[in-house]
Amino acid sequence: MTDEITARRDELLGLKTPLFYDSPVHLVRGEGAWLYDADGRRYVDLYNNIPVVGHCNQRVVEALARQAATLNTHSRYLDDVILDYAERLLGLHADGIERVVFTCTGTEANEVAMQMARIATGGRGFVCTDAAYHGHSDLVGSLTYAPARGRPDVHSIPFPDAYRPIEEGLTSGALCDRYLAELRAAIDDFATEGVQFAGVLFCSILANEGLPDIPPGFMARAAAMVREAGGLVIFDEVQAGFCRTGRWWGYEGTDVVPDIVTMGKPIGNGFPLGACAARADLVDSFRERTHYFNTFAASPVHGAVGLAVLAELEERRLADNAATLGAYLKDQIDVIAAPIEGIGAIRARGLFLGIECVEDRVSKRPDRGAAAGICNGLRKRGFLTGTSGAYENQIKIRPPLVFDQVQADFFLEALADVLRGG
Ligand SMILES: Cc1ncc(COP(=O)(O)O)c(C=O)c1O
Repeated sequence: MTDEITARRDELLGLKTPLFYDSPVHLVRGEGAWLYDADGRRYVDLYNNIPVVGHCNQRVVEALARQAATLNTHSRYLDDVILDYAERLLGLHADGIERVVFTCTGTEANEVAMQMARIATGGRGFVCTDAAYHGHSDLVGSLTYAPARGRPDVHSIPFPDAYRPIEEGLTSGALCDRYLAELRAAIDDFATEGVQFAGVLFCSILANEGLPDIPPGFMARAAAMVREAGGLVIFDEVQAGFCRTGRWWGYEGTDVVPDIVTMGKPIGNGFPLGACAARADLVDSFRERTHYFNTFAASPVHGAVGLAVLAELEERRLADNAATLGAYLKDQIDVIAAPIEGIGAIRARGLFLGIECVEDRVSKRPDRGAAAGICNGLRKRGFLTGTSGAYENQIKIRPPLVFDQVQADFFLEALADVLRGG
């Protein structure tokens, strides 16, 4: 049956269409943080951040169905629902995030952000990290694992990381200076090349880079440097936002209020929704210059779904759950992994954890094969995780935020077993 559907998929969707796990999973139903396959087998979902308030969340589904049965149009009519949503969403951000452009995906939100920064600054040049992923369009995709100086409008810098530092033996402060010098050089090189600087686009927790240990103060000093050079700070909250880290936004842990913030994935609990929010003047000049329109974005259904997601996050206090259960998992995994030489570090930002697989703790050489093996071992036991990070050597643990203590304990037992080679 699985072979049959895999062959059909190849035939219809193309041979290299990505699939997870050596033995792919055929899911047919979801509820909370549970997923069920075609044979009725139950899995704990430890991977999917998009259904942040749970798979098939009843309140979200009802809001969607009710609004879809009432009115669903494009956005060039007057509509209260999307305005109520915009107001609620902006109210959750820091002062200075005043207006919002809705999109359908995270890529589009970043596309809007980059265009907005270009319009506001008159510049073209962006700096990102060397293991960034912010989306797949031509413009945003130019930041994906960008070489240091290989593209005319994009310079990448080594992502700040105290675990595998750019230079060994430095104090935390000196390491921070060292990474800031890379940013300085990237900005200065634009000037030498005659490219005006537009800004930086960073994920506020460097999620795709692998949740590295960022030297304290880096983000705040980087933001000051960027602004002094005439650029804008764009923070991508597509992974970090909506309570994942135990706070509403990842940037709350950086001492920086971005000029522009982008959102996606969990924002619609699986319904395609994205957003780019910023200061009023930035949004207004973007609107004026581009007359931006996105057929499916900012519809009444987007508004209804978005409001239901926010209500669930707030009423069920899921930020607190992320903080509490994330800390619990981190503590327990630290204990389980302590005697295992192939685990180099455990990263945790709320309910987003990365288990770093290495050949040994001295060389810290990434062990991608081990990470894939552990992930497949967990899948066989009914726990869905993934691999990620700059070297694809981390086990990524990022469940829906309705994940609970019982599921956490089931998982820890299975993880201990898999890590000990069981
Ligand atoms: C940090 C980050 N930004 C943006 C995106 C792109 O979002 P989407 O796939 O909705 O276009 C992703 C997707 O993985 C992401 O991880």
